[in-house]
Amino acid sequence: MNSLKRVIIFGATSSIAEQTARLLVAQGASIYCIGRSPKKLKALIDDLKVRASTDQCIDGCAANLTDTSQHARLIETAERVLGGIDSVLIAHGTLPNQKACQTDTLLTRQEFETNALSVIDLLTLIANYFEQQQHGVIAVISSVAGDRGRQSNYVYGAAKGMVTLFLQGLRNRLSKANVDVVTIKPGFVDTPMTDGLDKRGPLWAKPKDIATGIIKAMRTGKGEVYLPWFWKGIMLVIRHIPDSIFKRMSL
Ligand SMILES: NC(=O)c1ccc[n+]([C@@H]2O[C@H](COP(=O)([O-])OP(=O)(O)OC[C@H]3O[C@@H](n4cnc5c(N)ncnc54)[C@H](OP(=O)(O)O)[C@@H]3O)[C@@H](O)[C@H]2O)c1
Repeated sequence: MNSLKRVIIFGATSSIAEQTARLLVAQGASIYCIGRSPKKLKALIDDLKVRASTDQCIDGCAANLTDTSQHARLIETAERVLGGIDSVLIAHGTLPNQKACQTDTLLTRQEFETNALSVIDLLTLIANYFEQQQHGVIAVISSVAGDRGRQSNYVYGAAKGMVTLFLQGLRNRLSKANVDVVTIKPGFVDTPMTDGLDKRGPLWAKPKDIATGIIKAMRTGKGEVYLPWFWKGIMLVIRHIPDSIFKRMSL
């Protein structure tokens, strides 16, 4: 079982990350939270401090993670504050407006910077840190959307797919250094990110359920995990629909 005693969370103010942080704190972890909004970050840190015991360290720093020049400093600060790093969760992301991206190349590029390139930049730094340390667990929230491009959200899907593929290679590399790399693939989750969507139906999950699955996967070092579990079957079917049929569908 992996140790989740000293954890950095990037995108800590996301609903899923917030629930994960609460569960980690209840399990005795010290956490360094990095979120974009200073106001939301302060509220999160205050909440976690109330839940933590005196020997747990709860701290953090506000940062826009597309500013990759800050990444090395953020990791160094977190390491100093926590007294070392056992685990990292990368959770930040945006759901692009697919139609707007189709006519705006700059917007499309920005979505890739948030959802893929900023994540890959962080992963490169953290991978080298853990490789040298010879232990650690890295978890990233990707998405089922990265399993196959669909007309309704292929900008998001392609960015998440890039992250998923990068993590596959990283997992292969870091397994030799006793480092686990975990790809989290949620389906539909009821969070602010999906507020514009119709949330009725059995496929929708709550952030707390996803958080429980994330921690389980981080502890066991499972490579790729679909959350909830039934998305594994759904995506197996979606991935295997022949292209000749898929291009006539409106998914
Ligand atoms: N909800 C779903 O259905 C679903 C499904 C599959 C995967 N996911 C993934 O799950 C992760 C968490 O999302 P969520 O559902 O919990 O949504 P959320 O509550 O809307 O969280 C998204 C978070 O990302 C942060 N963020 C966005 N751009 C950032 C940047 N440049 N720098 C720093 N932080 C930034 C946001 O910060 P602000 O609060 O400052 O905007 C927010 O805290 C994301 O990676 C998302 O793609 C979600």
